[in-house]
Amino acid sequence: MEIVILTGSKQIGALAADAIEALLRRKPNAVLGLATGSSPLPVYDELARRHRENGLDFSQAHAFALDEYVGLEPGHHESYREVIRREFTDKVNIDPANVHSPDGMAADLPAACEAYEETMRALGGVDLQILGVGTDGHIGFNEPGSSLASRTRIKTLIEQTRKDNARFFKNIDEVPHHVVTQGLGTIMDARHVVLIATGAQKAQAVRDFVEGPVAAICAASVLQMHQHATILIDEAAASSL
Ligand code: GLP
Repeated sequence: MEIVILTGSKQIGALAADAIEALLRRKPNAVLGLATGSSPLPVYDELARRHRENGLDFSQAHAFALDEYVGLEPGHHESYREVIRREFTDKVNIDPANVHSPDGMAADLPAACEAYEETMRALGGVDLQILGVGTDGHIGFNEPGSSLASRTRIKTLIEQTRKDNARFFKNIDEVPHHVVTQGLGTIMDARHVVLIATGAQKAQAVRDFVEGPVAAICAASVLQMHQHATILIDEAAASSL
């Protein structure tokens, strides 16, 4: 893992955007892995700016979302499909048909998870995966105890994650209990992983996954075994290292 400590979100956004821009220039039909949450927003803002001002081209790119809530109707403000559209893909010239999300409303969720993996495989896999990290060390929605080899599947959120995410809903009762998430094995297949963590509330999780043992109790620790993982953190998130 390559750990880069920067002064703030703007610098983090710029560095991650540099990696994505370099990839798109080398491979215009690159496959991007997108994460939700507040951590990647400076990256999306910077990419949208580069598209607007410098014509950074996403017309041949593909994108796969990491995860989705189960049971939020299409168009729900907090469904991750909507969040990704609103926060990023609507602001660049990526073809909406090339933006994929797990289907949290499928009648047969396991079959939909398998189909999602198949679509990813058919496009050659993810070139660059953006990640945030939960306060419990989750990536995607791979909560503590997730198999390090797991693939896209249904997971149950722990209470802390529902509390962390309640800020996006009217109240905690509206936060779904179940989600569909790419597995740790799926995320490990990405050729380059860029994880972003900012703020003191992430310091413990950052210490656990960077300096702790590789263990399912801290899902992000699996990235210690990734051949190309870049960890972009601010000084507050680095404060327990
Ligand atoms: C959610 C998402 C994760 C994200 C995490 C952290 O649980 N499923 O992908 O990394 O939130 O969010 P934030 O970046 O807002 O702290």
